[in-house]
Amino acid sequence: MYEEYWGLKEKPFQNTPDPRFFYKSLEHEEALMKMLYTVEEGLGAGILTGVFGCGKTVIGQSLLEKLPSDKYKVAFITNPQLEYVELLRAIVRNLKSIELPTKKTELSADSLLEILGDILQNNNRDGRETIVIIDEAHIIKDERIFEELRLLLNFQTRDKFLLTLLLFGQPELKQRIEDNKQLEQRIAMKSHLEAFRQEDTFNYIAHRVHIAGGADLVFNESAFKIIHNRSGGIPRRINRICDVSLLVGMYKNIKSINEEIVEEGLQSLGG
Ligand SMILES: Nc1ncnc2c1ncn2[C@@H]1O[C@H](COP(=O)(O)OP(=O)(O)OP(=O)(O)O)[C@@H](O)[C@H]1O
Ligand SMILES: [Mg+2]
Repeated sequence: MYEEYWGLKEKPFQNTPDPRFFYKSLEHEEALMKMLYTVEEGLGAGILTGVFGCGKTVIGQSLLEKLPSDKYKVAFITNPQLEYVELLRAIVRNLKSIELPTKKTELSADSLLEILGDILQNNNRDGRETIVIIDEAHIIKDERIFEELRLLLNFQTRDKFLLTLLLFGQPELKQRIEDNKQLEQRIAMKSHLEAFRQEDTFNYIAHRVHIAGGADLVFNESAFKIIHNRSGGIPRRINRICDVSLLVGMYKNIKSINEEIVEEGLQSLGG
């Protein structure tokens, strides 16, 4: 809507995990590298935690882009089922791209595990690594599921894991995993994302505007500061504030977003 007014090719602040817009703060880059290292070195398991909206799913998508499909078979589970059999079914379905019977009773956990075992062996034989990424893993409340996930790491040959398990989730995921000592011991790599520091918020905004084809001066310095303060440096909130500010700036016919415009935008977001 406002793209033309601001000289943009597309909207810069969509709340979607589009890797094209990925901004590599030191922390985001480090988290991505740690997850990639876990996968490439076949370390078994890794976790990535962070508050809501801080970029975990974006990192997941950016990771996927780095894993060529001829070498990696990836199941990216975005909405983990809360029952073990369902979760297992989702993993198998993702890896095999086949239709499985949908009724719970039709395939037991044991037969799903058997299918999964075959998939892992086949991938290994074909020179492919198998990766299971569970996003939003903090919503799994049942301790037994973490225990079952741990058992998936027992799929091994003599010298390697046949599966890499990555768990992404909000900070409480850490505690969940710490409560299962055996699983905790299997986590080879841990990463935690915090909100952006002020400097990163500035660079993040400039980066997204740039990728969307806009000029550097769309937001001025007073705008940057208030956006950082009011968003707490959380990218999802930064996006919403910037998006509404661009809209307000357009109907006010302003050439550069300043503090007042951001304030007005914030009011229409309900503060
Ligand atoms: N490093 C980044 N580069 C570019 N955009 C980002 C980055 N981090 C976050 N974002 C933006 O913020 C939005 C929210 O990020 P994301 O969905 O990855 O958060 P999350 O940590 O997975 O949150 P939740 O815990 O709610 O699932 C994304 O859709 C994306 O637009
Ligand atoms: Mg997410």
